[in-house]
Amino acid sequence: MDRKKITIPDLIAKKARGEKVTMLTAYDYPTARAMDQAGVDSVLVGDSLGMVVLGYDSTVPVTMEEMLHHIKAVRRGLKYPVLIGDMPFMSYNVSIEQAITNAGRLMKEGGCDCVKLEGGVELAPTVKAIVGAGIPVCAHIGLTPQSVAQLGGYKVQGKDLAGAQQLVDDAAALAEVGASLIVFECIPTPLAAAITQATPMVTIGIGAGPECDGQVLVIHDLVGLAERNPPKMAKQYANIFPGLTESITGYINDVAAGDFPAEEHSFAMDQAIVDQLKV
Ligand code: KIV
Repeated sequence: MDRKKITIPDLIAKKARGEKVTMLTAYDYPTARAMDQAGVDSVLVGDSLGMVVLGYDSTVPVTMEEMLHHIKAVRRGLKYPVLIGDMPFMSYNVSIEQAITNAGRLMKEGGCDCVKLEGGVELAPTVKAIVGAGIPVCAHIGLTPQSVAQLGGYKVQGKDLAGAQQLVDDAAALAEVGASLIVFECIPTPLAAAITQATPMVTIGIGAGPECDGQVLVIHDLVGLAERNPPKMAKQYANIFPGLTESITGYINDVAAGDFPAEEHSFAMDQAIVDQLKV
């Protein structure tokens, strides 16, 4: 089949047709190649990078340089999906000028098609300015991990009337200033469904129920590439970590026993040449 590069308007058209949008996180070239081949609609280089790849205990320490390093690797592996780059903590919160500069870096240096940032109504002027600079924006509300200190932990958001209304108002403000996509993280299903119905933005859920326009998962949760069990909102389709550990143990044992490398992994040489060597 003749595949075409997917664009943000293609994702919006999917919403209009009632077709689901798929999104996954990736942080490196081989994972990006697998996603390209599998046919996912969009790939997010999330700042979850900090926790699942770099070993930080939150997303807060992630820097622009770390994001760009991984975004460039993913860009080299992707041909078709929309590439979304996460703006790390404090790369868009200091001033609108700083936000446009850093969003521009993710587009120019990283080759992103869109940038993602966390926040609601308070971020609307920033989103407006970034969109005004010609950069598509994916918003992110609900559980926003960069604000974990303020939220007091990784908790479901919008469960009471005031919290739910705040998220409705956040989404309306972000749509008003031109965000194209919005991630809902850990919010109740009926709330995500209600906003999805009302908003022109493509809603992407993670722990937000099945009625969002699309879904996103962290790839490490999907393939079981972590020591911990996947969080409640994730579905695990493979369990790579035990197999990875097992294969490393096999290698260690084989080297210790002299079973690796075997003849088929080694390079032969004419014995007459060996005999003439002065060693
Ligand atoms: O950083 C990330 O991977 C994310 C997703 C969980 C949406 O923000």
